[in-house]
Amino acid sequence: MSLPSHVRLVEVGPRDGLQNEAQPISVADKVQLVDALSAAGVSYIEVGSFVSPKWVPQMAGSAEVFAQIQRKPGVTYAALAPNLRGFEDALAAGVKEVAVFAAASQAFSQRNINCSISESLERFAPIMSAAKQHGVSVRGYVSCVLGCPYEGEIAPQQVAAVARELYAMGCYEVSLGDTIGTGTAGATRRLFEVVGAQVPRDKLAGHFHDTYGQAIANIYASLLEGISVFDSSIAGLGGCPYAKGASGNVASEDVLYLLNGLGIETGIDLDALIRAGQQISTVLGRPSGARVAKARNAK
Ligand code: HMG
Ligand code: MG
Repeated sequence: MSLPSHVRLVEVGPRDGLQNEAQPISVADKVQLVDALSAAGVSYIEVGSFVSPKWVPQMAGSAEVFAQIQRKPGVTYAALAPNLRGFEDALAAGVKEVAVFAAASQAFSQRNINCSISESLERFAPIMSAAKQHGVSVRGYVSCVLGCPYEGEIAPQQVAAVARELYAMGCYEVSLGDTIGTGTAGATRRLFEVVGAQVPRDKLAGHFHDTYGQAIANIYASLLEGISVFDSSIAGLGGCPYAKGASGNVASEDVLYLLNGLGIETGIDLDALIRAGQQISTVLGRPSGARVAKARNAK
């Protein structure tokens, strides 16, 4: 299969990245990050979550962040919603796109959202109908697609079953999350072969955490399988509060460097993206997790 000519990068740093930070980050710093990302040409930004503040305290200010960002035309500003309450809060904050999140592993589903996989899908049904009524698009996530911190190996067929359900209930796209970053390129190709038989490949995305340093290889493997949407995180921020040891998502800067090298269009300016990553790294008081940013800085 030939490589796609265009890739959409879904920037999850302000959400998947920052949700894992223990230190308080001000609304102003979050807003500055989102605005720096849109200024760099990022067309899709996951800004925050409307989840229980007891579960993920860092996302508690998401409504304020949405109120203060400068919405650039053509940019999608999205938020996670785990239940109808989250959806309604998102709607009240002016959110036009939400993401629901399920898992391919029962144990992870319990730890992350306190219910079984089938209960989670039942919870999403009223979100789907409310979203339709309000003209809100819904993206779906499946976590633990290449391994679970509690259950170990996960069969691709298990992932396919959950992805198919999310797609059937109206998610326009389903992002497959390697939450703990254990996947390798061969397993990634096999995953998309199996899931791609149940959900059209142009409705699938890849979401790779870089815990084992495999994310860039896995993205290349996904490109070879015809996948053209990838989630990534500025400066490689993040992890998952319910997957101990999970490091950040693959750094957006590193993914962009790969795609630029392959001549694949994204609309994002690498220098501006690196600056956005440096800005948030300064706020967090640590060096950027993006290899490309480190290499540029060393010059
Ligand atoms: P629960 O405790 O079972 O829910 O949590 P509940 O309905 O019994 O409610 C408990 C309390 O939470 C109540 O408050 C509710 O009002 C409140 P209390 O009476 O105790 O004061 N509550 C809410 N508050 C704000 N917003 C809401 C909301 N819902 C209930 N939407 C629940 C269930 C789903 C709420 C909880 O487990 C939760 O919020 N989980 C979120 C976990 C999370 O955000 N994880 C990280 C994101 S997923 C991820 O990172 C993976 C991904 O990146 C892909 C990948 O890498 O694989 C997407
Ligand atoms: Mg994630």
